[in-house]
Amino acid sequence: MKKIFFDSHAHLNNEGYSAKDREELAGMIKASEVSHVVDVGFDLGSSMLAAEHAKKYPWCYAAVGFHPHDAKDMDEDALRLIKGLARKDKVVAIGEIGLDYYRNLSSKDTQQHWFRRQIALALELDMPIIIHDRDANEDVMRILKEEGVFSAERMGKFPKNPVSGLPDARLLMHCFSGSAELASQYVKLGATISVAGPVTYRNARKAVEAVAAVPMECLVIETDAPYLAPEPFRGGVNASPLIKHTARKVAEIKGISLEETARITSDNAKRFFGLDI
Ligand code: NI
Repeated sequence: MKKIFFDSHAHLNNEGYSAKDREELAGMIKASEVSHVVDVGFDLGSSMLAAEHAKKYPWCYAAVGFHPHDAKDMDEDALRLIKGLARKDKVVAIGEIGLDYYRNLSSKDTQQHWFRRQIALALELDMPIIIHDRDANEDVMRILKEEGVFSAERMGKFPKNPVSGLPDARLLMHCFSGSAELASQYVKLGATISVAGPVTYRNARKAVEAVAAVPMECLVIETDAPYLAPEPFRGGVNASPLIKHTARKVAEIKGISLEETARITSDNAKRFFGLDI
């Protein structure tokens, strides 16, 4: 089996999994066409697990941070512990962090406070950032700008995109759900756009338009497993090997082969996370 897909966002650390489930999942990933997976934290426990998985599995990398839903459980001690985890081997990003005004499981003020603090941490450590933005487009962009994610100082630390020559802010818009116009704005600012399963859904006109608007060199793909299974598995449990259905849709939108889509999005993900592999 050729290992061609880089899953830039999954949750092997999902709370619903038992240790045995995770072992089985890891075996399945190892035997699949997926070469690498970034296990993304959403609170302290899941960030610790992600770092453990990165240590345990050669194909696994970790991101650490508090999701906006879990911002209400964050405090200064938790931030210090996230910082400690961020410095560990194979921990490659701060995330997923951001704002979620759809479910508002933490208050807006609390979400914004810890979003800002975690951006500041990523800037302090010169690390890539993974963003969760749901129904909060304006505040997410405003806060990213205010906190200096697109500043000359931050941008100066990362090489420009070798294909487009665009600046690189090492900012990943996870499971991008905004308009084509917003995607283009982010690309100009130096962000990378991540495409997940919903692009395969029948009503996905907006997501398809966004993918069409983003240059290939600024796109990565993800599963967000166990959530957001792509067609024909919509509504079921997602897992990294199903990423090929999302890749196939991106290939169709871009008019290139599946292999080329896999190669380019893998190269982009490796560059984004700073991996020399
Ligand atoms: Ni996620």
